[in-house]
Amino acid sequence: MSREYRVGHGQDAHRLVTGRRLIVGGVHVEGSPRGADAHSDGDVLLHALADALLSTYALGDIGRLFPPSDPALAGMDSREIVTRVLEKVQLHASGVRLENVAAVVTLDAPRLGPLRDAICGNVSALLGIEAGTFGLTFKTSEGLAPDHVQASVSLLLSRAP
Ligand code: C5P
Ligand code: MG
Repeated sequence: MSREYRVGHGQDAHRLVTGRRLIVGGVHVEGSPRGADAHSDGDVLLHALADALLSTYALGDIGRLFPPSDPALAGMDSREIVTRVLEKVQLHASGVRLENVAAVVTLDAPRLGPLRDAICGNVSALLGIEAGTFGLTFKTSEGLAPDHVQASVSLLLSRAP
């Protein structure tokens, strides 16, 4: 019997405001004077990733699992969100494999290129995948969304029958 393959997709956006730290893929972007306005740490990459994982088996989305109205979730580290979603998707169960992840982060400034290895290493470790299976693209919005940070994640999950 052949493996079963499932595509996942998720995206997220947050407004940038002063007085907040900007966190992308669990990495603090030290050069940013602004951070995401969010209930949690506002990590758009990890939020889009968590939704992409949930979408593979139609398990809803992180807004349903982690309601913004829940005070216990204020300032939550988004790595915890991903860890809990991985348990739901049973990624670490035998036979389940994340084939690859393709992510795009859109931010006009600052440049994220210098943080690529740190972000890739961090997210790959969180997912338990080889760094070579996590593709990370940075884009500006060309001035169309200068006050937002956005992320889009596609991935392919497979499961042995
Ligand atoms: O959006 P644009 O195509 O002009 O981006 C040019 C390059 O700048 C990207 O390929 C990416 O490597 C880099 N970039 C970056 N950090 C950003 C946005 C873009 O390093 N915040
Ligand atoms: Mg979010």
